[in-house]
Amino acid sequence: MQRAALLAVAMFLFSSCSPQRTVGTVGSDSRIEHSVDSLLRLMTLEEKIGQMNQISVGGDVESYAEHIRAGRIGSILNETDPVKVNRYQKMAVEESRLHIPILVGRDVIHGFHTIFPIPLGLASTFDTELAEKTARAAAEEASATGVKWTFSPMCDLARDSRWGRIAESSGEDPLLDAQMAVALVRGYQTDDPSAPDAIAACVKHFFGYGAAEGGRDYNSTYIPERQMRNFFLPPFKAGIDAGVLTVMTSFNDNDGVPSTGNSHLLKDILRKEWGFDGMVVSDWNSTLEMVNHGFAANGEDAARLAANAGCEMDMMSFTYISSLKRLVNDGKVKESDIDAAVRDILRVKYRLGLFKRPYVDTTRTKGAFYKKETLALAEKAAEESAVLLKNDGALPLDASKISRILVTGPMADSPYDQLGTWAFDGEKGHTVTPLAALKERYGDRLQITYFPALKNSRDDNKAGIAQATALARQCDAVLAFLGEEAILSGEAHCLADISLKGGQSSLLEALKKSGKPVVASIMAGRALCIGKDLENCDAMLYSFHPGTMGGPAIAKLIFGEAVPSGKLPVTFTNASGEVWYYNRTNSGRPATGNEILLKDIPENAGQTSLGNTSFYIDSSTKPLFPFGFGLSYAKFSYDGIKLASDVVTQKDSIKVIAYVRNESGPDAEEVVQVYIRDVVGSITRPLKELKAFKRVLIPAGQTAEVCFAIPVSDLAFCGLDMKKKVEPGDFELWVAGDSDSGKPVTFKVSE
Ligand code: NOJ
Repeated sequence: MQRAALLAVAMFLFSSCSPQRTVGTVGSDSRIEHSVDSLLRLMTLEEKIGQMNQISVGGDVESYAEHIRAGRIGSILNETDPVKVNRYQKMAVEESRLHIPILVGRDVIHGFHTIFPIPLGLASTFDTELAEKTARAAAEEASATGVKWTFSPMCDLARDSRWGRIAESSGEDPLLDAQMAVALVRGYQTDDPSAPDAIAACVKHFFGYGAAEGGRDYNSTYIPERQMRNFFLPPFKAGIDAGVLTVMTSFNDNDGVPSTGNSHLLKDILRKEWGFDGMVVSDWNSTLEMVNHGFAANGEDAARLAANAGCEMDMMSFTYISSLKRLVNDGKVKESDIDAAVRDILRVKYRLGLFKRPYVDTTRTKGAFYKKETLALAEKAAEESAVLLKNDGALPLDASKISRILVTGPMADSPYDQLGTWAFDGEKGHTVTPLAALKERYGDRLQITYFPALKNSRDDNKAGIAQATALARQCDAVLAFLGEEAILSGEAHCLADISLKGGQSSLLEALKKSGKPVVASIMAGRALCIGKDLENCDAMLYSFHPGTMGGPAIAKLIFGEAVPSGKLPVTFTNASGEVWYYNRTNSGRPATGNEILLKDIPENAGQTSLGNTSFYIDSSTKPLFPFGFGLSYAKFSYDGIKLASDVVTQKDSIKVIAYVRNESGPDAEEVVQVYIRDVVGSITRPLKELKAFKRVLIPAGQTAEVCFAIPVSDLAFCGLDMKKKVEPGDFELWVAGDSDSGKPVTFKVSE
């Protein structure tokens, strides 16, 4: 490698070695505290309870006037018309006794009008700067309508793709999840949440929601305290440390206690341990749902339990507005607890600048949506989020060497579906599908035949498949766009079978028989089981629902104008019945890889002949793809790791340099990942844990020195004594392109 080039790469890399930006907190502001206290002193009990009441609006605006004027509504959700927002604010600010503005919320989950990749896709970019930019753009669009609060980021760790809301998660890893949460909080709120284009973020669902038993939404979870602290809480804590203004409780009960009524969570951990001074909102009706849980006797009891546990605003169960006054008068809820809740709610409203600027400038919506730069950002995010799972050399296609392509499959031209779940305000009219993008970019050079073969991703009418295969034979390459309609993932959209639905696998199988190169491009809300489909294509590009600009991003990737660089934020399983995650513990009998699978054992074989280890006899000893996996058009080799020292103290950082070479292919970005294993602990320790990652551009033929400085304190965990600390001893460290490759180096943490 040329010295100058090496120097340039090293400079670029070392500049990115500087410590991460310190996480800022909003901090308490004495003027705000003074205003909150003064206002609180003027409030009647009814007015205080009104602040704790959130309703979803719709229909006739004036029908809410009486309640708003009487101070019975503290927050509304689902109003995105700025004129109506201003009318509600006028009722609150000019026509009510205490002039307290309303906080308007909306689920702006992965974009507002311009839709970015679903959060699972955004996580697969491993690009926190980009994630922050997407949240910034979403906040700019949403705030133009008067929306001042989004219910994002979702911080629930998700290890089970049957769960429909895995789409809305950042996947299975606490570090990636935490870093994504911080990025999104920063993007939404900025350093100044009172700015007109900033909105409040909300870390949700506190806590455990993603571990729903059997992957069935809303279901119970069983996460013991130590697991909770070592895996599930860190992303929330990171969001709190980043200054998030609000927290939402979760629907599930964990080990018998519904989150909305869990004072250990909402008081002991959130307030006392973490010092959170923003506000806590319930999830939609989750207060009243404690009756269904069998935890509360009726609505009033539910209100008592939630208010006493520290849930401060009730979303849509109306139990607070209908029972809290009586509960206070009967001495079942202390007025001082109501005061504490209202103080937190008002503090958030002050921090958002709502008292100073309750109205939205209605001219702001003009030109606010789908700006050129926002669309470019959406395209870049979709590009970086696509994960190349297989490539036998079919990709990238060379437009100068082929003349005719077949575009087929139900997701090729399905503008609504590629937006994915939680895209309330995304419009399909603004979506660019792969078909549209392919025609626009390459239509002048290539003959593009479009034949979807299936009506939608669930269609199992196989009548069109033969024609698709016949068309494939007349073409030079086949692009099959498969996956899931938007409706197949998201809240309450869980699946027992997570393989491709309908006739999609049959279509791919038939296309492969055409003998032409077949590229499968999957757009989905989860990690589908695509093992058998991989055998029926020459290349597979996997995009989680990519959003408004998914089409151009995918088209560019297919034709090599962009290079795939996404990495999997979740482990891919071979079959729906499997659950794997990379940071599991080893068990006493880990699989060796030499086990005999069911298909290979003779009849009447003895019970022990398969090997008594931890695996699926009808499937595999390994998942299909490991966490962190993703190919590129470049070939990267990991050419060695240098540790600054193989003995570190508790106060040190682990300084590592990895040499990553782009052996062949185009200049390309690689997500370089550092995994660490704590070899022996006071409790069993994960096989590996992601401790750092960096997305690095490595020019063709060059070697990058990628450096990391990981504080030893990042190795801390809650051990047998439940105290978070680093346990001295031996550690292994890998730097690799995924969680299942590379050779470790070892180091020691001294006493
Ligand atoms: C229920 C969902 O669980 C939550 O995530 C969302 O923010 C609220 N509904 C509001 O729509």
